[in-house]
Amino acid sequence: MRINEKTVAHLRELGAEVRQGVSMAGQTSLGIGGTTDEILLVRCETIPDVMRILAGEHIPHKFLGGGTNVLIADGELPWVMLRLPTAHPGMRVEGNAAYVDASADLGGMVTFCAKHDLGGMEGLIGVPGSVGGALRMNAGAYGTQIGPHVKEVELYRAATGRIETLRGDDIRFDYRHTSFAPDDVMLRVKLELPSKPYKEILAGIKVCNQKRRSSQPLNQKSAGCIFKNPPGGSAGRMIDELGLKGHRVGDAMVSDRHANFFVNAGHAGCGDMLKLMDDVRGRVRAATGVELENEVIVWRN
Ligand code: EPU
Repeated sequence: MRINEKTVAHLRELGAEVRQGVSMAGQTSLGIGGTTDEILLVRCETIPDVMRILAGEHIPHKFLGGGTNVLIADGELPWVMLRLPTAHPGMRVEGNAAYVDASADLGGMVTFCAKHDLGGMEGLIGVPGSVGGALRMNAGAYGTQIGPHVKEVELYRAATGRIETLRGDDIRFDYRHTSFAPDDVMLRVKLELPSKPYKEILAGIKVCNQKRRSSQPLNQKSAGCIFKNPPGGSAGRMIDELGLKGHRVGDAMVSDRHANFFVNAGHAGCGDMLKLMDDVRGRVRAATGVELENEVIVWRN
């Protein structure tokens, strides 16, 4: 979708940067996605004004975080993409509290807190993506989830058109699911973390990095695990047991390292990836009766 010149000028007056005709394949870890105009917000405080302009012009939009857990349609996209400012995201520590901007890199946040002797998030070290994305999905790995550490979240609520602050206790964090509305936009988080010596945290981080390197295809284009684990089970093991590692539709392929990672092994399109997901889901259903649910977020035309 292309933004007309009058609206571009309006957005620029608010300090937003507009980039025209950006390929989302370059903005996502899967390397898949069509083209659209992108609005980079320079200050989060301008979101309500930017949203009013988009609503006034009937311009559909979506917010993209780190782009590491999303599968985006090919071709000219019928919405514009909004992004939060990523240069120098704010991070500071006060006692056991860490205040972090949603656009910060999740791993960067874990190491920043570690340097201030705040631990508890070692398991999240290799999870790719932004802090905002981690909050929305309640990212987790190796027994750690971000949700239990959340004290407060500042967000833009599309439903009210305002920036609001929610208490951690008022947010539900389940397995890869939260009670945020789909159009809430995470802006900042306050975390409460246990004190731990830097050296101890580093040792924990090392262990998680090793486990991840030995079991996941980290040097290939993927969105992490493509399906959620079914209750009490492992999607990766189920797909593996059906002999599907290396199975492909075009360049979309089930990783031969971890069967719940679907990789773009060349020039896969969104359609290839969706076909592969449907095919694998169907085979798992036929063999086990279990219906695998997407973990990756799909934005179709
Ligand atoms: N397994 C296989 N074959 C495979 C993959 C896994 O047999 O191809 C077996 C493993 O040997 C193990 C079991 O399945 O016995 C579980 O595998 P793993 O430890 O790799 O964990 P997972 O359940 O597949 C989850 C998260 C990952 C997270 C890891 C580590 C989900 C969907 N996945 O994977 O998160 O990194 O645990 O804690 O919850 C993600 O969210 O994108 C993600 C990758």
